[in-house]
Amino acid sequence: MKCVQAHMMQKESACDYDVAQVRKDFPILRTQVRGKPLVYLDNAATTQKPQCVIDTIQRYYTSENANVHRGIHYLSQQVTTRFDATREQVQRFFNAKVPCEIIFTSGATEGLNLIAHSYGQQHLKADDEILITYMEHHSNIVPWQILCQQTGAKLRVAPIRNNGELMLDIFQSMLNTRTKIVAMTHVSNALGTINPVRKIVDMARIHGAVTVVDGAQSAPHLPIDLQDLGCDFFVCSGHKLYGPTGIGILYGRAELLEKMKPYQSGGDMILSVSFEKTSYKYLPHFFEAGTPHIEGVLGLGAALTYLTKTGLERIASYEKDLLDYAHTALSTVPGLRLVGTAPEKAGVLSFTMDNAHPHDIGQILDEHGVAIRAGHHCAQPVMQRFGVPATARASLGLYNTRAEIDVLIEALEDVNRIFG
Ligand code: ALA
Repeated sequence: MKCVQAHMMQKESACDYDVAQVRKDFPILRTQVRGKPLVYLDNAATTQKPQCVIDTIQRYYTSENANVHRGIHYLSQQVTTRFDATREQVQRFFNAKVPCEIIFTSGATEGLNLIAHSYGQQHLKADDEILITYMEHHSNIVPWQILCQQTGAKLRVAPIRNNGELMLDIFQSMLNTRTKIVAMTHVSNALGTINPVRKIVDMARIHGAVTVVDGAQSAPHLPIDLQDLGCDFFVCSGHKLYGPTGIGILYGRAELLEKMKPYQSGGDMILSVSFEKTSYKYLPHFFEAGTPHIEGVLGLGAALTYLTKTGLERIASYEKDLLDYAHTALSTVPGLRLVGTAPEKAGVLSFTMDNAHPHDIGQILDEHGVAIRAGHHCAQPVMQRFGVPATARASLGLYNTRAEIDVLIEALEDVNRIFG
């Protein structure tokens, strides 16, 4: 606790970042929970929304609602223009080469399923291999398992160290001419580990493997340059990027997307249909059957504008400072064990305590107004690797503060008082 008090004397952050101003943009942060200020530390599950995102969605339904790519009337044309412009905004935000490489999905999970279903079924055969890591979310395991069952391919899993780092040398040795897909998380949702994606992409390419990056937990915390990362596919979710739920992004290199089979079929992805034959639209519409999540796309656009204005580099630097502060503070809590201490980390503090189950920790923290997640975080193999059924997980967002970390620490001391 002494260490924490010492930190409390410091200013909010070492970097030039006005977190008090940022917090004003998020109305929910003014919420009281059981008479205490909300301390929202469940950002890896979903992030809160700035007022500009809420306003954009409300404005859409209040005065702009129409379907896209279908109407010749004013409202439809207006919203179609904004919808298409958002795709270009996403392309610029992630530095993809061209807008048609950006496909709107319902989230990272759908993006991964689309790749497994469409690219995977087309290209994999018996005895081919898919290489993933031990730290994957279920959504980057199960679609590949199903693909293996369908094709006879084999799923291989690269191990991780006790600190949650990928064993890169072993990973490299598992690559071979049979490896057709390498799928990895950029940032682990259960450990916070940042994987060296660019290095991995280079290694995979030597063997001709296609690379799939799950960016659900990296996109909110790190500036992403897709051309620099060099991966073939990248997915992320809008609701973790301070945007709405139900909207996500799949990036794929155009050369690959162009040759893939449809994932879903129906309206808006066809050029012509007769009972004998259907011809399809080009990218990106080919992968966007049916009425899209229009308010989701517009809301995501507002979120990206907000993030661009705030500055991803500045957010990353502020959060790194906060993460270091939280690590130091948590290490002062008796009986607390951090799960995931890789040197390259972002946003996530997973831990167990000697005397209390993660669910009990979560419940006591909730009484202090502190929202965290407790459980396996949809990453059961990670839990098995570290020999725990579950962890408590505090995860950071761009509006969290050192003062909030101090509230977390006080609440954890309460856990020790009750269960100690
Ligand atoms: N994948 C989200 C999490 O880690 C839901 O909590």
